[in-house]
Amino acid sequence: MDQDELKRNVAIAAIDYVETGTIIGVGTGSTANYFVDELAKIKTKIDGTVASSITTANRLKGHGIRVLDLNVVDEISVYVDGADESNRFLHLIKGGGGALTREKIIASASNKFVCIADDSKLVDILGNFPLPVEVIPMARSYVARELVKLGGQPVYREGYKTDNGNIILDVRNLQIMQPVELEQKINNIVGVVTNGLFAARPADVLLLGTQNGIKILT
Ligand code: A5P
Repeated sequence: MDQDELKRNVAIAAIDYVETGTIIGVGTGSTANYFVDELAKIKTKIDGTVASSITTANRLKGHGIRVLDLNVVDEISVYVDGADESNRFLHLIKGGGGALTREKIIASASNKFVCIADDSKLVDILGNFPLPVEVIPMARSYVARELVKLGGQPVYREGYKTDNGNIILDVRNLQIMQPVELEQKINNIVGVVTNGLFAARPADVLLLGTQNGIKILT
């Protein structure tokens, strides 16, 4: 099986977590795209979705799936999204696709967060994948200097603007031994909107696509 088949298989497995008559949070990225395609097959069973990016919203609408503004939604039963890295505690690095802030908002607002990924994403220590940090444009240089003080090597994502109109710094060279603490520290830098560590609110379930089937970590 190639990586795409592994991603499609976890997306199919995530459908088991979709409850009839509820609102579903939908993530961003290639694995989440497979989930959108699977969700389309059962779209009449759900009340609607909340999307973590404009790209995902467009894909959902393309399938005729109802997309709602988070502000009009009381409850999201489950949020399904991919990740760039996960450790065994289901702390994640996300944001490779730049949608980290809306992803984190929806993950926080959801009753359950089901992360879907192929097994290459499971790591012992987070940080090999550069950590994305969304920053207010005028604070870029200041935040970069503060990130260097934390031991990272921030790299400006050239020519990229988030759905919220901000920029991204991808922080290399981090060996993240204490994800909860680092998430908090980076969020405390003035000018940072969000960082791609999902540790204070980790995933509740990680579905991993492997050559031997789906592995479930909780
Ligand atoms: C989007 O901003 C990211 O958080 C994605 O969820 C993450 O990059 C995983 O993407 P893939 O499913 O394409 O690997």
